[in-house]
Amino acid sequence: MEVVLLNNNNSSQKLLSKIATNDGHGENSPYFDGWKAYDSDPYHAESNPTGVIQMGLAENQLSFDLIHQWIQNHPEASICNPEGGLGNFKEIAIFQDYHGLPSFRRAIANFMSRVRGGRVKFDSDRIVMSGGATGAHETVAFCLANPGEAFLVPTPYYPGFDRDLKWRTGVQLLPVVCESSNNFKVTLKALEEAYENAQKSNIKVKGLLITNPSNPLGTFFDKETLKTLVTFINHKNIHLICDEIYAGTVTADDEFVSIAEVIEDHPTICDRNLIHIVYSLSKDMGFPGFRVGIVYSYNDTVVSIARKMSSFGLVSTQTQHMISAMLSDDRFVDGFIAESRKRLARRHDMFTRELSHVGIGSLESNAGLFFWMDLRRFLKEPTFDSEMEFWRIIISEIKLNVSPGSSFHCSEPGWFRVCFANMEDETVHVAVRRIQAFVLKNKLMEIKTKAKKQCWQKNLHLKLSSRRLEDIMSPHSPITSPMLRAQN
Ligand SMILES: Cc1ncc(COP(=O)(O)O)c(C=O)c1O
Repeated sequence: MEVVLLNNNNSSQKLLSKIATNDGHGENSPYFDGWKAYDSDPYHAESNPTGVIQMGLAENQLSFDLIHQWIQNHPEASICNPEGGLGNFKEIAIFQDYHGLPSFRRAIANFMSRVRGGRVKFDSDRIVMSGGATGAHETVAFCLANPGEAFLVPTPYYPGFDRDLKWRTGVQLLPVVCESSNNFKVTLKALEEAYENAQKSNIKVKGLLITNPSNPLGTFFDKETLKTLVTFINHKNIHLICDEIYAGTVTADDEFVSIAEVIEDHPTICDRNLIHIVYSLSKDMGFPGFRVGIVYSYNDTVVSIARKMSSFGLVSTQTQHMISAMLSDDRFVDGFIAESRKRLARRHDMFTRELSHVGIGSLESNAGLFFWMDLRRFLKEPTFDSEMEFWRIIISEIKLNVSPGSSFHCSEPGWFRVCFANMEDETVHVAVRRIQAFVLKNKLMEIKTKAKKQCWQKNLHLKLSSRRLEDIMSPHSPITSPMLRAQN
């Protein structure tokens, strides 16, 4: 029998499922295009100094020296050397229970509590593992909603949600529109509006999904707002999913409030069965490669079903073994989180301060691995087309991969997410120097255009005042920052 190989993409796609051939993975967006631009021309200080700098990746790489130290001091955490007890190797290799190692679940529950300042305790029997927060979100969506039903999500939100919650489940995400006029805070009015819009369109709302702290804003919810959200979902009898994967990146640690604290402190505020937390070690520990994700639900049925579903995304037992040892070392955990927070705060402050010296502002924030940069004044027009046009300039001329607000479903054009914890200090300096050069060039062009206009209108000599040029070029100029001067 002759086997016909189908090379043609279209005809081979006809043989596949709708899920396999639709665009639900969301990779056809500027968010991922920016990554591709970086991949094809990656910056390297020596081998490619004019390449694209990757600022679209929310990775926490600032504290790996502390991890290395711990690993060196704890050879027993590995199953691949004599200190780790090679005798354990077989036990670990054949373990396949979807409950996970009891020591792993205890260590995660303990870690979640310590990251939240010990203000709240977590029950290790409610810890369900999954392949990163990505898998955890999909599991929760499968547990809570049928195809066609929806979750409300405040904007701007993490673009991966469109893949994680929608693609394979058939669930919908509906925006709760938040705006810069109140620093993108979620209001009851916006929630009610989103809920009513869904009802008008005959879409059944099954829950509200929040990210606390927020990706991309780098802000977190205050207690009163969380209480408002909990009251809202309880009143509507819908679920609340809280993605808290950036809890350990909050630099004002004692101010962060987990949803767990709200329902502990106010036991009658809602039906606990409606509350579910998604967590992972990808951001707080900086381990996205380990794929340790967690569903923590207060609903017994969800815990039980999610555990069965976790068969599709278990964490390797070898990883569980190592993580159990590392995260049950309280001294290490407390020291790591405190130091990581300090380093993140320093990097965030240094970067945003340098940008403010060149006249670029950002939303005030103190969490996350990014900040929300305000480039509205650089757009030709306040439209998403102009945002894309400017984003292409940023990628191709300034050679920075920052992510445009439209890919986060932001309702206002001109905002961009800048990740700051996936690079060396020196790379940040290079990025700021490039932005400085761009702003300077723009200012000069602005002045030339204005001067030309004046010349036409009044038929006067083109007079570019030396005073204004001095303003731009002098070392006291706001566009020459102290850090850059120190560098030069
Ligand atoms: C808010 C949010 N949720 C989930 C994820 C996915 O995390 P993980 O690597 O644990 O799958 C990310 C990754 O950037 C994120 O920002």
